[in-house]
Amino acid sequence: MKDSLLIIEDEALLGNELARFFRKQRWDVSVVTDIKSAQQLLSEQDIDPILILSDMNLPDGNALDFLEQAKRGLPHSEWIFLTGYGSVTDSVRALRLGAYDFIEKPCELDRLNMLVEGAARSARAQRRLQQETSQHFNRYGLDALVGRSQKTKQLRDMLKQLANVPFSSLVISGETGTGKGLVTRILHYSGSRASKPLVELNCAAIPKDLLESELFGYEAGAFTGAKKRHRGLLEQADTGTIFLDEIGELDLDLQGKLLKAVEELRFRRLGGENMVEVDVQIIAATNRDLLQKVKSGEFRQDLYHRLSVINIHIPPLRERLEDLRDLVPQFVADCNIKTGKNIKTIPDSVWEQLESYDWPGNIRQLHNIIERCVLLADNEVFPAQWLQFPNKNEDAPVAANNGIYIPLDGSLSLQDMEKVIIQEALNRANNNVTGAARLLRATRETMRYRVQKHHLKYEE
Ligand SMILES: Nc1ncnc2c1ncn2[C@@H]1O[C@H](COP(=O)(O)OP(=O)(O)OP(=O)(O)O)[C@@H](O)[C@H]1O
Ligand SMILES: [Mg+2]
Repeated sequence: MKDSLLIIEDEALLGNELARFFRKQRWDVSVVTDIKSAQQLLSEQDIDPILILSDMNLPDGNALDFLEQAKRGLPHSEWIFLTGYGSVTDSVRALRLGAYDFIEKPCELDRLNMLVEGAARSARAQRRLQQETSQHFNRYGLDALVGRSQKTKQLRDMLKQLANVPFSSLVISGETGTGKGLVTRILHYSGSRASKPLVELNCAAIPKDLLESELFGYEAGAFTGAKKRHRGLLEQADTGTIFLDEIGELDLDLQGKLLKAVEELRFRRLGGENMVEVDVQIIAATNRDLLQKVKSGEFRQDLYHRLSVINIHIPPLRERLEDLRDLVPQFVADCNIKTGKNIKTIPDSVWEQLESYDWPGNIRQLHNIIERCVLLADNEVFPAQWLQFPNKNEDAPVAANNGIYIPLDGSLSLQDMEKVIIQEALNRANNNVTGAARLLRATRETMRYRVQKHHLKYEE
């Protein structure tokens, strides 16, 4: 689809020349000669120009007054003004009102075109950003937190209340895979900072000595290798939210610096002299008992109290197994789409197994298991044999360290067992056929044949 350009120019000759020129540059052009017609066009014909190119003085008024009044309805359009010689005050006002630029008449078309291209890029970028934000908005609405259990309902209620409160910091606790990341996104995208950045830092994933510079940034020359100034994550999150995942992993020294920054909402970059001020909302997550860490002296009490103004605890899946009845069908549907399968029924025997398992990896584990089952299914019934819960059968021989567990209770055919073995070998070899062949002491050709026979995913 072509982008649309609205030209407002009362000199018909110039207006037509511009229209002809920009149509050749693949624009969808509309031309009007006064403000009234522009208003009519915008409201009645439902056009949404990404760019408005307008003469400054029009027969029925000044185009800047029109900009001021129309901007609300066109928040992601850019404006360029054509001005007469020497109208400096108008030009200044144009920029102040948020116009992209102005150009003096008579203007060369090539120069004008460059300006137009620049403005169009800016408008497209704004639209992309806005679209992404609204997608996130839908994807991370309250309904994204699925589950019918009382505990999950309470959690949803709590999140709903929090969406309307501008909290400064909050701690989410919960075992691994319970949905701390998801809850963070819901909080951010349903709150007043939704269109502002959400910046994540996993404190456990970054070496301790790099954490400080990641968080606070540094000035050029702050340490060997610091060639240019670097804005830290706190600064990147300005006006938005910073998500500090696994906050329990911060060391005491950095905890102190973070506390100071959080209390004062300003800090210095490493090697810097000036204070940088930020306005951030902090969400911290932990899968450990932070209070326990406070008692044992590993986590600063003052920081704990500062952050945990609000506490959200996400219970483990085993305490809310009713949620499975909503989570499982949803994950199956998602995986159907992703893998092109069409699982329609989930047998009772599968439900029994799902509901009697204790889910140490919580919802992430559930998702992974369902993905595996859907991927390996060969008809429309959810395949029980691929659930493969560890410790399902206490009497079963314990798999040796690098062996695998294959039940001999009739649930798997010899074919299925072959598939299990090959899939496991592929997993361990990062889906590489040669690597998997080596593990099974087979030739690459044999392996490729069997992988294809079982429709498994692989790489050469
Ligand atoms: N109630 C829920 N409804 C739907 N999906 C969920 C729910 N809870 C978690 N999930 C999904 O489960 C997966 C794991 O969740 P998430 O990454 O938020 O867990 P986490 O607590 O951050 O884990 P970790 O401690 O390992 O970082 C994600 O794909 C998330 O979208
Ligand atoms: Mg997480």
